[in-house]
Amino acid sequence: MTVGVALYGLGNVGSGLVEILDARGGELRSTRGLDLELRHVVIRDPSRPRRVQPRHVQPTCDWRAPLEDAQVHIVVEAMGGLDTAGVVVESALRAGKHVVTANKALIAARGEELEALASARGAELRYEGAVGGAIPVLHALRGALVANRLTRVRGILNGTCNYILTRMAEDRLALEDALAQAQELGFAEADPSADISGTDTAQKLVILARHAFGRWLPLESVCVEGIERLTLSDVDDALRRGCVIKLIAEATRDDDGAVSLRVAPVEIPATDALAQVRNEVNAVTLEGDFAGPLTFIGRGAGSRPTGSAVFADLVELALLHRSRWERN
Ligand SMILES: NC(=O)c1ccc[n+]([C@@H]2O[C@H](COP(=O)([O-])OP(=O)(O)OC[C@H]3O[C@@H](n4cnc5c(N)ncnc54)[C@H](OP(=O)(O)O)[C@@H]3O)[C@@H](O)[C@H]2O)c1
Repeated sequence: MTVGVALYGLGNVGSGLVEILDARGGELRSTRGLDLELRHVVIRDPSRPRRVQPRHVQPTCDWRAPLEDAQVHIVVEAMGGLDTAGVVVESALRAGKHVVTANKALIAARGEELEALASARGAELRYEGAVGGAIPVLHALRGALVANRLTRVRGILNGTCNYILTRMAEDRLALEDALAQAQELGFAEADPSADISGTDTAQKLVILARHAFGRWLPLESVCVEGIERLTLSDVDDALRRGCVIKLIAEATRDDDGAVSLRVAPVEIPATDALAQVRNEVNAVTLEGDFAGPLTFIGRGAGSRPTGSAVFADLVELALLHRSRWERN
């Protein structure tokens, strides 16, 4: 079965996906009988040099045409932002196409509405890459941990902040020097405000909470404190107490079912599983009533790790729905 794919965006995430499609496409065909055909790649600036060149497709700036192609079954949105990305995702779902995205800003802001639209149109919306990069936490919550009632979810969800906090603790760098180093190494954006203010982490927490506790909570309901005011003396004080400071995202459900969401720099004992997570690495601890605590640690961002999560969503949707497409 050939499944048609339209990819919007050929930056970090889109390029990672194209690399994986090239590397694993043949294997998927021979082992699963599934042929993922990349039919369209949409970009903004054709003059920009590309690290990765899609094999049989000429990238285009026309974002409307792929949505009108009846042979496109799945749309992958890897552009980012709320405006064009929002229109593309909404239009694709309205047209009954399945959508995969890694866009945490869009999903945190409009996830509930977009999921409702998807279900009304018989389509699905997947966004594993939006939380924790390569870490398959949403798959785990949806599948392997389905027996569990979750009581708490805690994580380190922003690689830039974790890198800064690690360098402050281990090299005694001031926050702004650690940030400059993260930017030089390509972990941090030129404008790091969404990272260090905790907003990026809060967006991911809203998405995690949706899967852990079965409901969407507004971004505004997250109690957010970033790392911008942390000093070396805060870090040193924590070390003296046998602790480290981490930007922790935490979602808890109390006995009455109320869910609260918090993002803040927290002192945690050096023996805590999350204290061992260094540099740009991400981690999530899930506490289920039957399974007990489970901690996932891995690359929370980057072209290939995020591409890996997007590819997993794509393959899962294709395998789930191909019998319907085969009949039509
Ligand atoms: N980077 C990561 O590690 C990572 C991890 C997890 C999630 N994400 C999420 O994944 C999404 C993409 O991130 P990224 O890092 O891959 O971004 P990026 O490197 O900036 O790439 C964005 C791509 O989208 C294209 N694009 C942007 N606006 C467009 C428009 N209006 N019309 C057509 N094409 C447009 C750009 O085209 P041009 O190339 O022509 O400019 C570019 O190819 C974001 O939502 C981000 O939050 C990223």
